[in-house]
Amino acid sequence: MDVTLNIHQSPIISPPVVEARKAARYYVMGDVTVMALRGVDIKVEKGEMVSVMGPSGSGKSTLMNLMGCLDTPSSGAVLLDGTDISELDERALARVRNEKIGFIFQQFNLLARSSVLDNVATPLLYAGVPAKIRKERATHVLERVGLADRMKHLPRELSGGQKQRVAVARALVNEPSLLLADEPTGALDQETGHQILDLFEELHDAGNTLVLVTHDPDIGAFTPRSIHLLDGMVKE
Ligand SMILES: Nc1ncnc2c1ncn2[C@@H]1O[C@H](COP(=O)(O)OP(=O)(O)OP(=O)(O)O)[C@@H](O)[C@H]1O
Ligand SMILES: [Mg+2]
Repeated sequence: MDVTLNIHQSPIISPPVVEARKAARYYVMGDVTVMALRGVDIKVEKGEMVSVMGPSGSGKSTLMNLMGCLDTPSSGAVLLDGTDISELDERALARVRNEKIGFIFQQFNLLARSSVLDNVATPLLYAGVPAKIRKERATHVLERVGLADRMKHLPRELSGGQKQRVAVARALVNEPSLLLADEPTGALDQETGHQILDLFEELHDAGNTLVLVTHDPDIGAFTPRSIHLLDGMVKE
């Protein structure tokens, strides 16, 4: 058999954007060990939009922290674009985080004293992108989320939905492999929340990979696939 020929004939398969292999996270608290995640196997492929659901305390944020390189597993492995993050030191983790992950949080986490434009450009500043290009790219993503007319405003001058759009623009500006959102609609009324979900749908249609961590059943119903956690395990 001509193996070489077979290799050339098969399509190029890219690794999952994020993969957890028997990933566990324990918190040792004196005599007590809290098993926040008990060995989960998860794969998210490029271009997928997936929700991670489960009751309070089931391990959703713990899993999100692992996927986002904010934390490393106690045992097992987490791979981002095929690279095992377990072995990276704090510096390397920070770099991977900045290059590969766009975070969106419930409370938006915007810089209160910085303009909308500067908020969105911040990840590019950390990445060492020159000022002119920072401004161009931040402007471009703000146009994309419908906030071209708010660039000079401060966060407090915006509505909740607009603040979350700024946060989405900031998450997108580095063209990350993965957009990771923790309760992205949790601080918004239902209608505004649905507008943010519509924006996620647009980003998904454009080929972005999204993981939405939530206990909102509306979001679970909205994503093509849901991963359900219960007591630190994936529920089949
Ligand atoms: N830093 C920590 N130290 C000790 N225990 C922790 C820590 N973080 C989380 N835990 C525990 O791990 C378990 C999972 O917590 P986690 O925050 O992942 O849950 P969650 O699904 O995000 O819940 P919620 O919906 O309330 O946000 C809980 O029992 C929690 O008490
Ligand atoms: Mg949580």
